[in-house]
Amino acid sequence: MSATRPTTWLVTGASRGIGLELVRQLLSSSEHIVVAACRNPEKATVLKDFKDSSKGRLHIVRLDVSDFDSIRASVKHLESALGELGLDYLINNAGILTQDTAFTLNPEQFLQVVRTNVAGPALVSQVCLPLLEKSVRKVILNISSTAGSLGSVEGWVGGAAGFTSYAMSKAALNMLTVKQKAERPDLTVITMCPGGVRTDMTSKMGELEPEESVAGILKVITSVTSEDSGKYLRYNGEQTRSSPR
Ligand SMILES: NC(=O)c1ccc[n+]([C@@H]2O[C@H](COP(=O)([O-])OP(=O)(O)OC[C@H]3O[C@@H](n4cnc5c(N)ncnc54)[C@H](OP(=O)(O)O)[C@@H]3O)[C@@H](O)[C@H]2O)c1
Repeated sequence: MSATRPTTWLVTGASRGIGLELVRQLLSSSEHIVVAACRNPEKATVLKDFKDSSKGRLHIVRLDVSDFDSIRASVKHLESALGELGLDYLINNAGILTQDTAFTLNPEQFLQVVRTNVAGPALVSQVCLPLLEKSVRKVILNISSTAGSLGSVEGWVGGAAGFTSYAMSKAALNMLTVKQKAERPDLTVITMCPGGVRTDMTSKMGELEPEESVAGILKVITSVTSEDSGKYLRYNGEQTRSSPR
C-alpha cells in the first residue's frame, strides 16, 4: 500500500474572512494538512468546529503577526505540527485596513499597519524558511491588494486618495515579494490580490464572495512554478500592473 505524501499549508489570519475560507476549502481535500494561525484561538469558534471534524488534519496555532515575539514563539508549534514534511505553502493572509489619506494619516497608526501587513509577514517568512526548505513545493503567497499597485492608483475602488497607509503597506509587501524571490530562487514567491471580497474588511461589499475568491486563489497558487516567482497576480490568474503607465 503506497501512502500519498500530504501537502502542508500555513494560513495566517485564519479566524475570519479569506483566511477562514482558505482553511475550509483546503480541508475539503484529504491530501492537505493545514496549520491555521490566529491571534485568539479561544475566540476562533468556527476553526474549532473545523478541527473537531478534520481527523487530525487541522492544527490551530496562536500567532499575532504584529507581535514579533509571538511569531518567534509559534515556530516550535509549527515544527511539531509539520515535522519532517516541512511547509509546502505559506500564505501570509492576515492584514488590517485603516481609512486615511496622505495628508491626514497618523504616523503611529501607519506604523501599526506596516507592522501587521509587511514586517510581520517578512518575519513569518523568515521563521518558516527551514520548514519551506524541507518541503516539495516551497511556495510563499503574500496576500496583497490592487491598492498597492502604482499602476492601478487612479482606478482603484477605494479611490486614488484613500486608504493611504494600507496602500503603502501593500506596495511594500509587493517589494518584499520581489526581494524574497531575488534572494531565494529555489522558492516560488507570489504576491496576489484576492479581488474585492465581501468580508468584514470591506463591510461585506465587493464583487466576490469569499468562496469564489478563494477557489481562484487556490487554483492559481497550486499551479504556479518557479517561472512565476515574483509575479503580482489576481485571484483569477491575471497579472496586476505594478508600474504606472
Ligand atoms: N476583502 C477584500 O476585498 C480584500 C481585497 C484586497 C486584499 N485583501 C487582503 O486579504 C487579506 C484578508 O482580508 P479579509 O478581507 O479576509 O479581512 P478580514 O475579514 O478583516 O480578516 C482579517 C483577518 O486577519 C486577521 N488579523 C488581523 N490582524 C492580525 C494580527 N495582528 N495577527 C494575526 N491575525 C490578524 C484577523 O484576525 P482577528 O479575527 O483576530 O481580528 C482576521 O482573521 C488581508 O491581507 C487583506 O488586506 C482583502
